[in-house]
Amino acid sequence: MGIEAGVQKASAPAKCILFGEHAVVYGEPAVAVALEQRLQVQLTPSKSWSVGGSQLQSERHPHIVALKDALLDDSIPPMSIHITSDIPRASGLGSSAALSAAVGHAFATLAEHKNISNEALSTLAHQAEAQAQGGLASPLDTSTSTEGGVVVLSDKKETFCAWLYTRRLAVPTGERVWEVHSLELKRNDDIYLVLGNTGVHAPTSAQVALVASALEESPERIQEIKAIGTISRRGLDALQRGDYTAVGHAMSENHVLLRNLGVSSPELEDLIKAALPTSLGVKLTGAGGGGCMVALTRRPKETAEAIELAGGRTFVSRIGNAGARTDDVNI
Ligand code: MEV
Repeated sequence: MGIEAGVQKASAPAKCILFGEHAVVYGEPAVAVALEQRLQVQLTPSKSWSVGGSQLQSERHPHIVALKDALLDDSIPPMSIHITSDIPRASGLGSSAALSAAVGHAFATLAEHKNISNEALSTLAHQAEAQAQGGLASPLDTSTSTEGGVVVLSDKKETFCAWLYTRRLAVPTGERVWEVHSLELKRNDDIYLVLGNTGVHAPTSAQVALVASALEESPERIQEIKAIGTISRRGLDALQRGDYTAVGHAMSENHVLLRNLGVSSPELEDLIKAALPTSLGVKLTGAGGGGCMVALTRRPKETAEAIELAGGRTFVSRIGNAGARTDDVNI
């Protein structure tokens, strides 16, 4: 084994939202955790810029081109980008945020931006994500993949979490502001997340647009968004106390509100119903419309079996894993 000159490697985790998806786009609190599943990128010097053997193009690779423009100048030679991942795409687990977080780390290392902070990298990743989502995106996915662990977003600085930074985004109706925190968890050795993938691809942009047009049509439905925020707070309080029974209850309650909002799907409902008897709480996770559900459970094998029998593909993770990082280049 040796170190190959000029090769850069970085990786970033998938994320799972425990509370508050969709409502977080409108400034309500939300909680997400970094999963064990990761995406890896490797940059190798090459004659021209390429991704997986195809030419790098802004239409096909908007996140990568945005990060390249922000972090690299003309002195950096072209690279071939190789991506490997165990995060299913368009499934609510933040594969595009993980791509942005990992590529951002690799580019920053390549350009020797040694002092670039996670805050700066996650800002770039968030901007790329917002552009890809038609201008509306919270920083939840990109901050969780960049920071790792457990990330809490709120409309105010919370005293029980470690405050990391303020994030602002210009949106058509003005400016949206999120306070980004990380939360240290109490010991939870017997607690697992089982993710069940419906196999139905549902682009986040379409799901976010669906909620936006529902609110435009019936502005009073903002009460449903606020109710999700109230449940997020309750769930967060339980998480902080290490009361996983209450965490599970809040997750299931959150799912009912998401279903009423119109972002669940028959496939998600089937997997959720199957997981419920062996779980502390179950909900869709991410944008919904397909993609994944998550079960909080002390019986991961039984829960995974039940989801598989109902037609889902599963994987298991502990809560809170390492964030984006530059990896060894010994090959
Ligand atoms: C997608 O993982 C989460 C959403 O809340 C969108 C966002 O936060 O940008 C649906």
